[in-house]
Amino acid sequence: MERKNSNFAVWSDNLSVEIDLIDDQHKVLIQLINDSSHMIIEQDFDKVRNILRELRIYTDTHFSEEELLFSRSSYPHVDKHLKEHSYFVGKLDEFENNVSDNDIAVSLNILEFLKNWLFYHIEIVDKGYSLYVKKVLQE
Ligand SMILES: [Fe+2]
Ligand SMILES: [Fe+2]
Repeated sequence: MERKNSNFAVWSDNLSVEIDLIDDQHKVLIQLINDSSHMIIEQDFDKVRNILRELRIYTDTHFSEEELLFSRSSYPHVDKHLKEHSYFVGKLDEFENNVSDNDIAVSLNILEFLKNWLFYHIEIVDKGYSLYVKKVLQE
């Protein structure tokens, strides 16, 4: 089946934080956002909700992994980063409640917000820790 809107959220090299494990996890998050955009367009809102639940669980896994790297490397800017993480988790929970069965545009708008947040977070905030963490943990 050909998928419409297959490029809603796509990982690209400029998102790399140069830690393979973290890049792989970011790819999964982006794929899940992309998958849910397909399901919104196909108006399969049960599947949208399933994917969002998966995204919520995987986000926890991913954030825990990053937070483990912070504590192992004594990363100094943890508080600010943790605040960003809990903001995103809050937005995911909000989205799960607001996904609209009869308004594709509303759901896609919220999903667009999540995507933009995630891309910004990876490119600016996560890249902020990755060089530091890499350097400290390799020494
Ligand atoms: Fe991340
Ligand atoms: Fe992060």
